[in-house]
Amino acid sequence: MAYDPPKNRSNPLRIRTTLRAIEDWWFDTTRSIETCIHLPHPERDQIVGELRDSLTYSPVRANNVRSSLRDLPIHNYSDYTFIDIGSGKGRVLFVAAEFPFRHVLGVEFATPIHQHAVANIQRFSHWRQKCPSIESINANAMEYEFPNENLILYLCNPFGPEVLQQMLANLEESFRANPRSIILILLWPERAQQVAKTAYMQPYRQTRRYHIYQMIQDPPPRTLS
Ligand SMILES: C[S@@+](CC[C@H](N)C(=O)[O-])C[C@H]1O[C@@H](n2cnc3c(N)ncnc32)[C@H](O)[C@@H]1O
Repeated sequence: MAYDPPKNRSNPLRIRTTLRAIEDWWFDTTRSIETCIHLPHPERDQIVGELRDSLTYSPVRANNVRSSLRDLPIHNYSDYTFIDIGSGKGRVLFVAAEFPFRHVLGVEFATPIHQHAVANIQRFSHWRQKCPSIESINANAMEYEFPNENLILYLCNPFGPEVLQQMLANLEESFRANPRSIILILLWPERAQQVAKTAYMQPYRQTRRYHIYQMIQDPPPRTLS
């Protein structure tokens, strides 16, 4: 893919946008993948389940994902499966695969985007890769059944409050049926208040860029100060 410099912007913004475009281009080129190009909403017949308040594909900066993954309250990454909910073309999966997770999984409801991720996974190769097991599945987060394993769940605002509520209800039910270690990362946490209200969900870390929560069966009672 040829590099296309941004036009008609103020200088500092143009420099920042240009640097970001180069960073994204470098990420893809060194891994033989394509995750940069933003996409419009898929047609209704190109998605699994319902659209509701789902958002479109737009990838995050790899470094922001790395920072949050280095900050997890775990010792052995290999005890966990990493899941990106709304995984798009798979950029976050390739960042997560730099850590020795047991398995790295993406859930993407738009079939053409999921197929693009599958092609990326087939081509992907990089010296930083520590997890050999990467997969994209074509499913809707509203109906997704969480695996009965220790989980790191990652969300970067893939949808609005309606889909999120249903996903959190499914997660709560899954945890109640099979209590295990479940950790949730919100990158650019726009829906933090909604997540914090979920049963068993305890805050672990809150920064400007990301929040991390842990599901705990018997959390200590909150003290009033
Ligand atoms: C903002 S992009 C995030 C891409 C990637 N996770 C990242 O952080 O770079 C959101 C993605 O979520 C997908 N998505 C939106 N609603 C979804 C749903 N209900 N179930 C599964 N995927 C969904 C969109 O198609 C899009 O690819």
